[in-house]
Amino acid sequence: MKITLTKPFILRCFLISIFLSLPFLFLHLFSPTQPINTTTTSKTSKKDLTIRPGYKSYEAYIQRQLNKTLNTKLRKIWTTRDWNRKIPVFAKFFSELKTKNLLQETSKALCIGARVGQEVEALRRINVVDSIGMDLVPHPPLVVEGDFHNQPFGNDTFDFEFSNVFDHALYPHKFVGEIERTLKPNGVCVLHVALSRRADKYSANDLYSVEPLVELFKNSVLVHVRKVDGFGLDTEVAFRKKPPPTHRRF
Ligand SMILES: *[C@@H]1O[C@H](CO)[C@@H](O)[C@H](O)[C@H]1NC(C)=O
Ligand SMILES: *[C@@H]1O[C@H](CO)[C@@H](O)[C@H](O)[C@H]1NC(C)=O
Repeated sequence: MKITLTKPFILRCFLISIFLSLPFLFLHLFSPTQPINTTTTSKTSKKDLTIRPGYKSYEAYIQRQLNKTLNTKLRKIWTTRDWNRKIPVFAKFFSELKTKNLLQETSKALCIGARVGQEVEALRRINVVDSIGMDLVPHPPLVVEGDFHNQPFGNDTFDFEFSNVFDHALYPHKFVGEIERTLKPNGVCVLHVALSRRADKYSANDLYSVEPLVELFKNSVLVHVRKVDGFGLDTEVAFRKKPPPTHRRF
């Protein structure tokens, strides 16, 4: 048997093969290039934590935060309707942390951005009696005055810190740095954050994954991440501050 390959036939085959490979060529040319593996993490986390623009100064930011905190209508709701609705839920969250050994009745505890002190009341109801709240506006006896970017407490003060206002931080590295400074070694920080929905108009940042938190808590280890239903906040992240490095004795 003899197959004769005529010149027109070969040419036709060649042209058809070129034609068929065109889509692949285009796909290759216009597909986004993959970033190098080592830079992927930091790119992702940078994009996963964005600071909202528009604050001309730190004072302007504080004024805006104060505007919410001092709102008399809101404060009324926080101390009445929300008081009864939210405290049992906070108490349940804290009880679960107790069973996981992340919180003890003997823990010295701080609630950051505590408004009127619902979280503090919840802690005290489950016998964590040495607990206090902190916010820009004090609310005695449960909440003392303080800025989470510059906590009014000494180093290594607390065994446990809780916050559900991470989204209000204009400087997330300071927010976390202050927690790590004021926690005792092996102290625990628990944050409730919103990953799947945007928080309110007073938020100063938007968080889209846990990754940026893991990077910010550089003196801590991640203990757990779990889904919660926390009044619009959907994720609980727990960190434990590392013990100080053991120095070799000579
Ligand atoms: C605070 O809020 C009120 C009412 O929304 C507004 O009129 C006022 O300008 C705000 N003040 C600041 C400092 O943002
Ligand atoms: C408190 O901690 C910070 C940061 O960890 C450190 O820079 C500072 O020197 C400490 N202050 C005291 C009084 O130990």
